[in-house]
Amino acid sequence: MEKIWIAGAKGHVGSALCDLLDCRHYEILPTDLEEVDITDRESVSNYVRVSRPDVLINCVGFGDIASCEAQPDKAYQVNTVGARNLAVQAQAIGAKLIHLSTDDVFSHHARQPYNEFEIPTPSTIYGKSKLAGERFVQNLCTRHVIVRSSWVYGIGRDFVNTVLEAANNPSVTSMEVAENEFASPTSATELAKVIEQLIDNDCLGIYHAVCGGFCSRFEFAQAILKAIHAKDKLTLKPISDSETINYSVLDNMMLRLENFTQPVSWQQALKDYITTTGGND
Ligand SMILES: NC(=O)c1ccc[n+]([C@@H]2O[C@H](COP(=O)([O-])OP(=O)(O)OC[C@H]3O[C@@H](n4cnc5c(N)ncnc54)[C@H](OP(=O)(O)O)[C@@H]3O)[C@@H](O)[C@H]2O)c1
Repeated sequence: MEKIWIAGAKGHVGSALCDLLDCRHYEILPTDLEEVDITDRESVSNYVRVSRPDVLINCVGFGDIASCEAQPDKAYQVNTVGARNLAVQAQAIGAKLIHLSTDDVFSHHARQPYNEFEIPTPSTIYGKSKLAGERFVQNLCTRHVIVRSSWVYGIGRDFVNTVLEAANNPSVTSMEVAENEFASPTSATELAKVIEQLIDNDCLGIYHAVCGGFCSRFEFAQAILKAIHAKDKLTLKPISDSETINYSVLDNMMLRLENFTQPVSWQQALKDYITTTGGND
């Protein structure tokens, strides 16, 4: 039975993968920070030597944009050095490494979706540290897959849960939401379904994996409230903190070219998520 190490197993994507992957087909080895800190070379090397996974899935990330700007060393430590440590160990045992990355490797200045062949030009520390992590993975591990996504939500702290929490809190009556940011909201469950398709084959390289369609952050918040029938509970105030439009829509070109099953539309994924969780934060 194939062994799959999921690093960052308690996060949005890691927990969705643990829920999705069939333990009749795979032996799942879930770890999080307490078990294996991926920034610690020796811990990673010891874990790999003992458990010998066939596939490593790196769901670890230090992803808060503002925190990355405030703590650049930590951003590079987790997003770059951590990725390198996994890449080196995967290569040492001939394992496949599936590495999660982000739309933030792009500058967000385009006006049409970015495909996998566009040249990344990140402008934030988060984006730069994730791109540097991608480079290590590409250079150090032959059998690698890089999966970039955007606006991922699921179990944990994220935009969907922030809106749900505000809507369920009687003392919060309004919320400011950016109307100049555009991307494709993607549920961790839909992203996990894409990752599952990339486990057992030689389809290596970069894949964009986002739900279909796109929207502004403001439209996304409106859709969340509508899904839980709470439009009257929270007033959304559109704001733009700059003149520029922040556009980070990804095109799943490689999934399309290789005939993989695409994620559902962002509206459908949101509906599924709210139905499954009951709309509780
Ligand atoms: N969320 C998004 O919108 C989004 C969008 C595009 C791409 N991505 C990428 O997708 C991946 C997964 O994102 P996610 O939203 O699932 O992240 P997440 O919910 O923040 O989960 C990350 C998990 O990794 C753990 N972790 C943190 N530092 C670690 C370390 N040094 N060693 C081992 N584990 C550590 C975290 O533990 P603690 O909670 O204890 O820190 C957490 O359980 C990341 O690579 C991220 O960059 C995310």
